[in-house]
Formats: sequence, C-alpha cells, structure tokens
Amino acid sequence: MSVLIKGGRIITAADDYVADVYVEDETVTLIGESLDMSADKVIDASGKYVLPGLVDPHTHLDMPFGGTVTIDDVESGQTAAAFGGTTCHVDFIIQPPGSSFAEAIAEWRSKANGKQVIDMGYHMAVTDLEQGGTLEELASLPDEGITSYKLFMAYKGALMVDDETLFRTMEVASETGALVMVHAENGDVIDVLVRQALEAGNTDPIYHALTRPPEAEGEATNRAIQLAHLANAPLYVVHVTCREAVQPIALARDKGWDVWGETCTQYFFNSLDDIAKPDFEGAKYVYSPPVRDKSNWEVLWNAVRSDALSAISTDHCAFLWDGQKTLGKDDFSKIPNGGPGLENRLHMIHEFGARAGRISLNRMVELLATNPAKLFGLYPRKGTVAVGSDADLVVFDPEKKLTITAANQHSKTDYNLYEGTDVTGSPEVVLLRGNVLVEGDQLVASPGIGQYVARARFGQELRASSAVA
Ligand code: URP
Ligand code: ZN
Ligand code: ZN
Repeated sequence: MSVLIKGGRIITAADDYVADVYVEDETVTLIGESLDMSADKVIDASGKYVLPGLVDPHTHLDMPFGGTVTIDDVESGQTAAAFGGTTCHVDFIIQPPGSSFAEAIAEWRSKANGKQVIDMGYHMAVTDLEQGGTLEELASLPDEGITSYKLFMAYKGALMVDDETLFRTMEVASETGALVMVHAENGDVIDVLVRQALEAGNTDPIYHALTRPPEAEGEATNRAIQLAHLANAPLYVVHVTCREAVQPIALARDKGWDVWGETCTQYFFNSLDDIAKPDFEGAKYVYSPPVRDKSNWEVLWNAVRSDALSAISTDHCAFLWDGQKTLGKDDFSKIPNGGPGLENRLHMIHEFGARAGRISLNRMVELLATNPAKLFGLYPRKGTVAVGSDADLVVFDPEKKLTITAANQHSKTDYNLYEGTDVTGSPEVVLLRGNVLVEGDQLVASPGIGQYVARARFGQELRASSAVA
C-alpha cells in the first residue's frame, strides 16, 4: 500500500515547510517538492497542515478505579484518540496488589487484544513490592519494552506507595534505564484533610479540590525530585497543575538534573469555578490533582513555553457523570477521580495555544508528539515526520470550525470538559502506519489495526519496526 500526500504544510518540532510525503509499507520513504510518483491513494493536502500523529503519554483505558471501571475501553478510548489526531499512546498497567508484574501485563494485554485502533505501549504502575512483584522482576520489564515505572504518592489505601517503595523503584530504574513517573501529591496529608472535611459535614464535590491543596502537590513533587536525584534515576512528574509544583521542577532542570514535567489539557481550562458548579455538576471536574484557581493557567502556559514543563498529555480516565460519578453523590471522596480528554487535546491546544499566539505551531507539535515520543522511547519511529519514521500522519484543516460537545464525541462518557467551546482547526485525515484511520467524520479502519509497541529505554531511540501485534 502506498500513499502520496500532496502539497501540505509539514510541521514538526523543528521545521515548517510545504512538500509532498510518500509512504510505502507503513513508513515514510520520501519527502520532497512536487513528487511525481504513482500511489494507491493520493491525498490533496494543499492549505492543510501535515503533522506527525500525536503521542499521548498518559491515559487510563479499561482501568478499575474508585470502585468502578473507566467507561472507555481500549476500542472506544482509542477511537476517540484517533479522531483527535492521536495515533499512539502509553497506557498504565496497574499492578493489582499481590500480583506479579507478569500477571498484570497478561491481564492488560488481554484487554487490548483485537480492539486496538491506534498503536500503544505500557507503563507499569508499581503498587506492591512485598507480596506480588519483586525487584528482580521489575528490573526485567524494560526487556519487554515497558521502560517506565509509575508510582502513586497519593490515593492512600488504594494505589499509594510509601517512600521505601518509591526509592527502591528509583534505584532499579537507575540500573535498568527506565524512566520513573510519579503522581506527586502527599497522600497522607490529603487523607487527614478529607477525613476532617467529612467529619465537618462537607460532602460536595468542591471539597475534593479543597482537601488536595497545591502545597500537597508541591511537597510531593520536591520529595520525588530529591529522591530521584539521590537514586540517580531520571524522573517525569505527571499532571502538574500549579506553581508550587512547577517551581521545584524548573529549579531541578536549571541545575541540569534529569527531571521532566507534564501537564494536561484540562489544567489550562478548568478551575475551581467548575468544580463548584451546583447540582452535582462539579463532579464532572473531579480528577487528581484537582482543578486549581485560575491564576495557575498562566503559570502553566509560561511553563510549557519555557520548557519547565515539556509535554501535554490528557490523563484520559473517563467515567460517566450519570451512574459513575454519582457514586459520590453524598460523599465527594467516593466520586471516581478522572476525566475524559483524548479527543480534544489538539483542538484545545491548537486553538488556545498556537492560534492564540501563546506557543508556536512547532512547540505545539513538540509538546503533543515529539517530546512524549522522545521521553518514552518511541522516537523517531513516532513523534515526527521524517524518512524512516512510521507514517503516522495527521492532515489537519486549520480553517475547519467545530463546536466541542459530548453529543458528537467518540468517548463513551456522557459529558465533555470543554462543552460548547468553539475551535477553528481539526484533523481531516488521520493515518496510522500509512493506513487511513479517520477520514472526515468516518472511522475507516477496523479495530485490530493498532499494535503494541515495545519501547526503547530512556534516552535511546526506537528505529527498527519492533511492533508486536
Ligand atoms: O484523577 C485522575 N487523574 N485519575 C486517573 C489516575 C491518576 O491519578 O492519574
Ligand atoms: Zn495521577
Ligand atoms: Zn493518570
């Protein structure tokens, strides 16, 4: 199968130029001006952008959490991703306490079998090094292409680990070339504040935010940075929301430490005003770390401009408002934590980042595709438009007008965090390894086309086609 994309404006993290792209056997084989080649499919991209397929380094599909299971499984979540121009993501395997890592991997791979619409890799969320997984087994995961270990410093009594587990995992990572990821909030302190709020009869969704203050995020972020430095392990702080967490990351990076930070789309747009909405509507905005006051929006835009933060993910962890979030109708601490986002990351960051002049188009591509690919061992197969890279490509119409609404989204959830927002610019054609996934409003390819990608170790490149179905 060959594809010729004609006359598009190719935008990578580094370049911006008009050219044709020729694809053979799933790979970009030629880029040049006015290519005179025959192809099985020709796409006219004049007036359009040609972007690399986006990479989302932080998603939760088919994940048991908060007494229920996320509403998006691999098929619906990845379909939503494809319509948003995301062609590869890295999802979290959560080690069930008492299980070995091998058991956890088998469980998560079986959730994806036959359902994959886009390519995917996995992080391993370590929850238990006592009864289940061992340090030796943890050390073997990079051989299987699982080259990042995630630790939750919050969710006490569920996913939270103690500092010993955190530090031991960091020591393993420094030996194996894995990247350590942390959900950085002080879970012990939050647990005290939650109990105090409930004892005082404060049960509304807003108390989710009020019991998880920015200081709890700042403290845990700094703790993780110091421990990772001590263990000589590279660190990636997920879903950074506020100045209290940006500052220690920026300081560590200024010192040349191996520390990176990510924020998520929703933290630029949602705030305490949303979680305070009446009639339980605030529950739609219950995710962790929580929404912050609006002054943090500019902190985050500055951070992604200055590279204090280097990636924007979605942390897609979708629940129904009606039927799942309502588990916490009378107690905010029982509202499943998480929100949807896979479909609208590009729409929102293009509109309010690039079009609004806050970041360049190159920086947008870097934050949504290239840096996630580089940090998580997918580059240069993913995250750029180049000869030899996978032909994961987005033909993006910068003039297409769209109103974001749950009514026509592909996620199975019943709300959208950006409901009613008007944007200009949307993917028109999305290709995965040269196969057309999305054309206009149609999903063209069938589930099963996506593959598992064995990722390279931190700092190493992924070149040969090592995808395993
Ligand atoms: O509220 C969130 N973010 N849910 C997903 C799990 C996590 O903490 O990333
Ligand atoms: Zn988290
Ligand atoms: Zn998450």
